[in-house]
Amino acid sequence: MSDEADANRVAGWFGDCYGRQPEGVWQAPGRANLIGEHTDYNQGWVLPFALDRGVLVAAACRHDGMLVIRSRQAPGEPATLPLATVAPGRVTGWAAYPAGVAWALREAGHPVGGASLAIDSTLPQGAGLSSSAALECAVALALTGLYGLDVPRPDLAILARRAENDFVGVPSGIMDQSASLLCQASHALLLDCRSGEGSAVPLEPAAAGLALLIVDTGARHALGDGRYALRRGECDQAAGELGVRCLRDVADAAAADGLADPVLRRRARHVVTENHRVTQAAAMLRAGGLAGAGALLSASHTSLRDDFEVSWPEADTTVDAALEAGALGARMMGGGLGGSGIALGPPAPDAVRAAIGGRYAPLGRPAPGVLAPPPPPRRRRLPGARRPCAGRGRGGSEALLGVDGQERSRTAERQLPHAAWPARRARQDRRRPAGKHGVRAPPADRRALDGGARRPPSGARLDAHPDYVALGLRAGAQSPR
Ligand code: GLA
Repeated sequence: MSDEADANRVAGWFGDCYGRQPEGVWQAPGRANLIGEHTDYNQGWVLPFALDRGVLVAAACRHDGMLVIRSRQAPGEPATLPLATVAPGRVTGWAAYPAGVAWALREAGHPVGGASLAIDSTLPQGAGLSSSAALECAVALALTGLYGLDVPRPDLAILARRAENDFVGVPSGIMDQSASLLCQASHALLLDCRSGEGSAVPLEPAAAGLALLIVDTGARHALGDGRYALRRGECDQAAGELGVRCLRDVADAAAADGLADPVLRRRARHVVTENHRVTQAAAMLRAGGLAGAGALLSASHTSLRDDFEVSWPEADTTVDAALEAGALGARMMGGGLGGSGIALGPPAPDAVRAAIGGRYAPLGRPAPGVLAPPPPPRRRRLPGARRPCAGRGRGGSEALLGVDGQERSRTAERQLPHAAWPARRARQDRRRPAGKHGVRAPPADRRALDGGARRPPSGARLDAHPDYVALGLRAGAQSPR
């Protein structure tokens, strides 16, 4: 993303739509995942990193209690919703994602009021790059920024995920929202989805003489089509039959052999071995050995294809072509059955690109889109801190810098009272609706992250890091269109 140009573009569009300047522009990135697939909801480990593309939200407060949402990707009439009546099942389609975030924030006791939003995205939809999570996270940053609510980022990720699980009805894990909100420039995020403990792991392929290619295979995926939920159910069943709370608790893949059902055996084997691959890959990155992680990527693909059975023909073709052309490793990425792949390639990735394109031509398919993502640059926090709407903020808005680069103010961080969480979760649980895709998301106290501790241990707090990729980009009042 080119911060200023993108922020100015969406701010300009906001002006066209609403006839006024936005009070700020916030952005959250999409994510790729180096390794660690279908491990998050099994309370395991993941290693995602932020992309240089994402979702931007220009926003301003409204004092009529309405949430008005426009999206450049959904031209037409805006969604106009009285906030007080926004509830699961009452909003459908794309607007359910931003509306769900407002609902989740209010359910958690954050006094979010009306807002006008103008949303734009630089991410392809359905490509498995977390466009939905980026949308949720950008809206979460915008609403908390507008209303001066300093919700710690790990908590914001949980609330954004709650919007997706309980409002939209998609039973996803915590990886995507955590990646969008917690990833730092030039680093992957090693996240323990049980404890919530996260750490930034250096990821600078160019410095290692390598390149990471993200390949949009063109086959679209949808987490809500039931197959993702089916895999979740199979994992839960496998864990139950192995006598553990979840598959994270199985350390040795040989234990999975004890499962009578061959399908459950394969599912469990994937999760157990994938967890090992994630921690090995993180150790290699820390030791400056990114190249060595290539073999782990390829092993992950084999496991996802043969044991977890979520690969798809275009992904297999992409992986084969990339490896034949000299990539050090490649795999499908994300939930699967459509979406994108990732290849760890040599510094001149053109041969890998050409090889992949060459494999698609005989299939009568256009060459897939290939992103060679530079790790997102360190971003200066842009435009100036603003007063919370109507003086309702209890903390301060995200620290923002002016377009002139001057930091204007940074208000004290307000922490959610920890003691309030269990009671709040119990309340949320009682209200928890059935998921619309046939799976009831696990109870809230089991999925604070993915079933683990309710809050990250204090030593692992990542919510005040200056290098976040997701942040406020621009304050409308301070920059002409
Ligand atoms: C999707 C979900 C994530 C995760 C991945 C698979 O992206 O949103 O929570 O489960 O699939 O690793």
